[in-house]
Parts: sequence; structure tokens; C-alpha cells
Amino acid sequence: MARPNVLVTRMVPQENLDRLREHFEVEVNAEDRPLTRAELLAKVKGRDAILSMLTDTIDGEVLDAAGPQCKVVANFAVGYNNFDVAAATRRGVVLTNTPGVLDDATATLAFTLLLATARRIVEADKYVRDGKWTGWAPLFFIGLDVDGRTLGVAGLGRIGKNVARKGAAFGMKVIYNDVRRDPELEAAIGARFVDKETLLAESDFLTLHVPLLPETRHYIGEKELAAMKPTAVLINAARGPVVDEKALARALKDKVIWGAGLDVFENEPMVEPELLGLDNVIVVPHVASGTTETRLNMGRIAVENITRVLTGEAPTTCVNP
Ligand code: DGY
Repeated sequence: MARPNVLVTRMVPQENLDRLREHFEVEVNAEDRPLTRAELLAKVKGRDAILSMLTDTIDGEVLDAAGPQCKVVANFAVGYNNFDVAAATRRGVVLTNTPGVLDDATATLAFTLLLATARRIVEADKYVRDGKWTGWAPLFFIGLDVDGRTLGVAGLGRIGKNVARKGAAFGMKVIYNDVRRDPELEAAIGARFVDKETLLAESDFLTLHVPLLPETRHYIGEKELAAMKPTAVLINAARGPVVDEKALARALKDKVIWGAGLDVFENEPMVEPELLGLDNVIVVPHVASGTTETRLNMGRIAVENITRVLTGEAPTTCVNP
């Protein structure tokens, strides 16, 4: 009997591919770029499973192009806003993600952006490299204190909680907003649950960890930025559209807030051009989960889900309702 056929839409760690090839025929997009929509529609045809990236929109059109034998699409990401969950569920296709294994890496990157923005690390590094440094000076690259300041966490899922703990370890006071309270974290680090208005008004550093949903699109816009302290820093390692990027660029330019550290953008890989001209923002290319072990573990979960579904078992991290 022919072995099931799996499409991997982008190169993933070799170990993950080797594992997949033990049981399945595997085609990998070996080019170092996402598939175009037309390529994706053509390549999914006849596949039993797809290992997808957050850059692949998986909707009814793609699943119909794949055909009724397609049983599972496993995202190489914890976020799955690229999935049309209802369309897949209607067609009986299992959708999976990779929760848990990237919390440390993602939270570490968010906290790195916080520290680097507060202490103007990128600007200072460039200054030295550009040969502009003429010696120590008392009022030179003055940044913000972190210890003792208030860290606001929007969205207290696994990653938000991890950042909150890192903040507490740095002596920060933690406030948070979420759809539900977390008495355990409150007891562990003295975190305080607040409403969104208080979160905006009191945070010295506001870090975003909400999923991208219709109700969280532009969670931070012009009005919210105006409600923040002029000395505040905004960190986004969640999803780009959670922030109105044009409004943020204006706010940073007009010093409505002090700075921002961004891992994600509204229209990746495009970055709002006005942001790129500003010194008070650090931009990195959606790399929060990018450590060797984390990416390997993300692939391991995706491969495990595909293997389980194609051999008649339940997936471990299903996102269908
Ligand atoms: C995710 O997993 O959702 C990240 O954005 C990429 O690792």
C-alpha cells in the first residue's frame, strides 16, 4: 500500500524531517521563502497531511485543493490565526499547533526587547560602530530604569505568565489584564489584576501576549497610546495586527510614549517605513521562538500530530473546537 504523503511548506530542522520520512512520503519546499498562494494551492493537491507555517493561509480553498483525503494540517507555530478553523472543522480536517515548547524562548525575546529598548542598546551599538564615540560622558545614552518599575502584561497565557515571572525576578511590580484572573501567579509574585485602562495608565513597560482575534485587532491604537505614560515602553512579541502600526509610529515620533520593541508587524515582512526612521524603536524579524531547541521541539510536536492522526490516533494539540 502507498505510504501517506505529507507536504512540508518550508524547511524545518532535519531531525524533524527524518522522523516524518520514517513513515511517510515527504515533499519539502526547500526554497528559503514561503510558497506563493498559487504554489501552495498546487502543491497541497493529493496530500494526506500538511506541515504548515504561520505564513501559509490555510482556508477552505486550500483544503479543497488538497482533496478529501487530507486529514490534518499541523502548524509549526503556537499561533494559528493563519487557519480558518471553521472551514477545516466543516471538512473534518484536524488542525494542530505547538503550545508549551516556545514559552521560554518567546518570553526571553520579549524581555530582551524590553531591556534593550530601556537601555538603548541598538542605538548605542551603532554609535560605537559608526566611529562617533569620543569618550565617556555623563549625559550620554541615558535610558530607563527597569528595577522597581511597573511591568504591565496584556494576556496572561503561558508566555505572558513567563514574562511576568521574569519581570518579578528583575524587581518589577507586575500588573496584568486577561479574560480571567490568575490567583496562583498573584500569590507567587504579587501580580495585580487590573482593567485595561489601569494597565495602560500605570505600566512603565507594557508587554503584549494576547492572541490575534477579531476583538484584539488594534488592541493598542491611537487612543490607547495616548492613555500611556510619556515614559512608557511598548513590547509586542505576539502578533503584529494587535497594534495599529501607523498609530504607533506617530506616537513614537511625537514622543507620546518613550519607546517600543517589536518582533511582529501588521503586514510582515513589511515594516511601517516611518518606524524604520526612528531611534526609539527596536525591530527584529519575528524571531521570538528562534532557538535551536525550541524550533526542534516545535517540529517534534507537528510531526507527532501528523503521525498520530494519519495512524488513527487523536492529536496531542488540536485547535478545532
Ligand atoms: C508562534 O509560534 O506563533 C510564533 O509566532 C512563531 O514561533
